[in-house]
Amino acid sequence: MAEQHKDTARMKPRILLIDDEPGIRASLKVVLESAYELLAASSGADGLALFRRDPFHLVLLDIIMPNEDGMAILQTMRAEAPGVPVIMLTATKTVKSAVDAMKLGAADYITKPFDVEELRLIVARTLATQALEREVQSLRAQVVSRYSFHNLIGKSPPMQDIYAKIEQLADTRTTVLITGESGTGKELVARALHYNSSRKDRPFIAINCAALPDTLIESELFGHEKGSFTDARMRRVGHFELAHGGTLFLDEITEISPAIQAKLLRVLQEREFTRVGGSQSVKVDVRIIAATNKNLADLLQRGEFREDMYYRINVVSINLPPLRDRREDIPLLAKHFLAKRLQEEQRPSQELSKETVEILTKYHWPGNIRELQNVIEQASVWCRETTITPDNLPSSVRTDTHTLPLRAGALSGQLTLERAVMEFERQLILDALKQTDFVQVHAAALLGISRRMLKYRMDSLGICREDIRLSPDSPNVPG
Ligand SMILES: Nc1ncnc2c1ncn2[C@@H]1O[C@H](COP(=O)(O)OP(=O)(O)OP(=O)(O)O)[C@@H](O)[C@H]1O
Ligand SMILES: [Mg+2]
Repeated sequence: MAEQHKDTARMKPRILLIDDEPGIRASLKVVLESAYELLAASSGADGLALFRRDPFHLVLLDIIMPNEDGMAILQTMRAEAPGVPVIMLTATKTVKSAVDAMKLGAADYITKPFDVEELRLIVARTLATQALEREVQSLRAQVVSRYSFHNLIGKSPPMQDIYAKIEQLADTRTTVLITGESGTGKELVARALHYNSSRKDRPFIAINCAALPDTLIESELFGHEKGSFTDARMRRVGHFELAHGGTLFLDEITEISPAIQAKLLRVLQEREFTRVGGSQSVKVDVRIIAATNKNLADLLQRGEFREDMYYRINVVSINLPPLRDRREDIPLLAKHFLAKRLQEEQRPSQELSKETVEILTKYHWPGNIRELQNVIEQASVWCRETTITPDNLPSSVRTDTHTLPLRAGALSGQLTLERAVMEFERQLILDALKQTDFVQVHAAALLGISRRMLKYRMDSLGICREDIRLSPDSPNVPG
């Protein structure tokens, strides 16, 4: 029973009262004590000390105290903890200063001698407003955070799922397989898993299995004993040991040979291994995250990946969709990368024109987010103005948007195949001409045809200089 009483007492809102008159302190205590936890200070200095020491929900502050400036105390409190509302206590004569106090951020004021009911009402109302504001703020923070999560940017539904999965999986030791096309952010997700777990202060070790030959990968992973092979003059600690207590990220896991896969399997099952050339088992506590841009199920079927390994690795998987399947993230990402570059280079501000964003949103991004990042950086370099326009984009990105409607048109029967192909050819030739400053010999070379052939195709497609001049993204047509 006593415990319970203590608990409810702890849940009462805490109010700090600062007033030099003992009578006021006593009577406020009587009025407020049943509903609130009240701490009283008789001077501004003591009050501030309490304010800084303990968290309060609300402050009742006397405007006029001997040798002290209630206004200054109010300002200090507002600056140090703007989330805590301050109600001023004032003698009727000084209502004007009460109004001034409101201008400085006081939540309300109560005139002395106070009416008990009015006092209770003002305190309760202020606390309720405050609670509501806090709730709105926390909701807003949640919404904002969902535009990004630990260096990952994206507000699309697939990204929301990925954030939720990372949160769920981060603090477990479950092996996670991350799949997705090149440049979709697999490594970033692996890092997010690590840095949102209790392992975050231990190492995150990434190893790219494709970058190392079989012979090296074994000693990279497991280490080797001195003299275990010709070059092994020293004992070497492998990545599994280095990652002890932390996370080991095996990137491009499919590039590991079946022989090494078998060894890896043992670590995954028993969390122990032997160094190359050694006989002693080494035990480790390592969380494994693997990634691949290949279709593991296909490799499994073709016998290129061990089945037992597949099931060990693929306990839970996170699949990163290609960028073209979450186009709503493209403007957000583009702006993010531009802002990042400008900040890194300490460049004056630049922005993306509306058409530029439109083109970026339509492009099919075979290289996914990495490609988008490169395109933004290049465009920002080429752009000499404050607005990045489509001209600053590589032509491959610009022209792709033209071919998309062509594809769609042909596949929906709105364009005949012949017409679509002709239009495509026309655009290719126009682009080649633009890229070579309209020097036909160079354009022909670019397209791998003779100059005569180019001229012939231009004629039969009806491409003339007028076309080039009228083409929307070719501002530099000479003469
Ligand atoms: N959601 C994202 N938000 C912001 N930046 C991202 C996001 N996804 C990827 N990136 C950035 O894109 C680049 C590529 O990401 P990452 O290296 O993680 O891709 P990956 O899937 O591992 O690619 P690969 O298969 O080629 O190894 C990095 O610079 C990364 O910071
Ligand atoms: Mg990677």
